[in-house]
Amino acid sequence: MQQVQSAAATLDADPTIEMAREIAEGFARRPKEIPAKYLYDALGSKLFEAICELPWYRITRGEHSLLAAHAGAIMSASGGCDTVVELGGGSGEKLSVLLAAAGGRELDVHLVDISPAALAQSERNLAAHLSVTLHAHEADYETGVREALRRRRTDGRALVLFLGSNIGNLSPDQAGHFLQELRRACRPGDRLLLGADLVKPEAELLLAYDDPLGLTAAFNKNVLARLNRELDADFDLLAFDHCVEWNPAASRIEVYLVSRADQLVCIRGAGCCTSIDEGERIWTESSYKYEPAGIAEMGARAGFTVREQWIEPESRFALTLFESES
Ligand code: AVI
Repeated sequence: MQQVQSAAATLDADPTIEMAREIAEGFARRPKEIPAKYLYDALGSKLFEAICELPWYRITRGEHSLLAAHAGAIMSASGGCDTVVELGGGSGEKLSVLLAAAGGRELDVHLVDISPAALAQSERNLAAHLSVTLHAHEADYETGVREALRRRRTDGRALVLFLGSNIGNLSPDQAGHFLQELRRACRPGDRLLLGADLVKPEAELLLAYDDPLGLTAAFNKNVLARLNRELDADFDLLAFDHCVEWNPAASRIEVYLVSRADQLVCIRGAGCCTSIDEGERIWTESSYKYEPAGIAEMGARAGFTVREQWIEPESRFALTLFESES
């Protein structure tokens, strides 16, 4: 049974077929949609790293200063965990801050990412932590965390890191489902450290996602270059504008590409041609913003109790340490 399931998963996971299917489905919706995960090809990942350096995008700095200030408290409140799993960690920099506070104790560290380049970079950056045994999982969050927690070598606790407000790119339903699956993979007493961006004034949020240097616009439009290259599409990048809106009712930033003219675009690799009207928007990303109590409630619905919550007041960013209930 197990073998059949993993064979099916492998077939299903052919990245180009999966991408063609999801893009065709997205263009059949109204508004048209491109799943946000396709923003992160090699160039998109580099552009995102550069965005993290922008003065107007404060998530990375806010989270880093919380980690630097509370790494010792996080590791000791994690009850002597001997397994750490980081989901979508990027460069491994944040994990490095926590590992430095682990006092050289032997740890199994599992890195989960869909990008092989990100995994390789994390592995390079973490090589200096000699007491750590690294395991890389090229997988989506759910599959990767399940696999990592199943392959645990000891009876000790696990600490799962889901940082960078990556949870903000999931809809509330997706986030709830993800946390429930995570809870199912955890043992009672395991910990989850969740980084989530908080609601702040609209002008600040708009600047963070529509920066004056145009980096976020380039990050957004790059997805069209990716579709041209990987799915033989013919998007004219100059025929689209980057557009960002704050949706207070849904508590999310919405990111779009807006067509400058009536146009017909073919995405041959996805087997579709589509007309796009002047002013029509293609939805490329949502970034949900939270209130501290909402983060605790979201965890509680999935079976996690808050142990501690730290808030960075300048950037309004929260780190919440949860314990998996029995
Ligand atoms: C990765 N993620 C948490 C970023 C965010 O803030 O939603 C992605 C991003 N998109 C534009 N700027 C940053």
